[in-house]
Amino acid sequence: MKDIDAPQTAKATPTLPDAQVVTEVEHYTDRLFRFRCTRPASLRFRSGEFVMIGLMGDPDPETGKQKPLLRAYSIASPSWDEELEFYSIKVPNGPLTSKLQHIQPGDEIILRPKPVGTLVHDALLPGKRLWFFATGTGIAPFASLLREPQTYADYDEVILTHTCREVGELTYGARLIEAIRQDELLAELIGEGFADKLRYYPTTTREQSPKMGRITDLMRSGEVFADLDVAPLSPATDRAMVCGNLAFNLEIKEMLEGYGLTEGANSKPAEYVVEKAFLD
Ligand code: A2P
Repeated sequence: MKDIDAPQTAKATPTLPDAQVVTEVEHYTDRLFRFRCTRPASLRFRSGEFVMIGLMGDPDPETGKQKPLLRAYSIASPSWDEELEFYSIKVPNGPLTSKLQHIQPGDEIILRPKPVGTLVHDALLPGKRLWFFATGTGIAPFASLLREPQTYADYDEVILTHTCREVGELTYGARLIEAIRQDELLAELIGEGFADKLRYYPTTTREQSPKMGRITDLMRSGEVFADLDVAPLSPATDRAMVCGNLAFNLEIKEMLEGYGLTEGANSKPAEYVVEKAFLD
């Protein structure tokens, strides 16, 4: 029989509706952090999908009642992972992230176990080369998909582009790529040499780094294609997933259409899909 008075059990016992327990927190910059939490046993999702997560809001000054404060967050961990990972911005006065940035291992968050989203393999037709275009925290769904065996089974080449303002904002992605390349479990799961298919193209716009500029400008000038030694996107070979800020999404969507790619959805797979990165 379990000792229900044991402190560890008491801590792990959810008191919030849909509560999960934070297991790890890592801060990258004053604007960005990552955390992991327990995964509900019943939660099944496709890599690339998002869920609603959050915390209890402050009590209503009149009634004293508290309401959950929830936002859509891409799951950054792959579908096979026993825990869940999220990558978040910290907005100083953001209703949720101003609180969420202070979570510690052992704290509880609310997680509604209803995953949805368009950045999934099911929404794309078969192709040879898969592009993940991310800005800022828009890398989160790709952190999931980059650890998903299907990504490498379905494509000969997988290219992640990540544009951020500053170098420190690239750390999460850079470490992720490094970890994927060295992960023996993934190599066993996906197949030896899988990481050779993976290309990483980080750029910054407001701080000096080896590759400067918005990815959209680098595509227009042809620089990205020259750097990677690949042909510009074509509907015959290339598929794309996009996740970033609104202006970026709109701009790159128009460019992808210009290359002849059409937008797909779960119900009608095509050549590219787009989703907005979370902003508080
Ligand atoms: P920039 O610094 O030139 O605005 P944010 O942190 O504001 O969400 O931006 C993340 C990254 O996305 C920044 O490097 C930013 O570049 C870039 N960005 C913003 N708008 C666009 C756009 N329309 N096309 C391409 N990149 C963009």
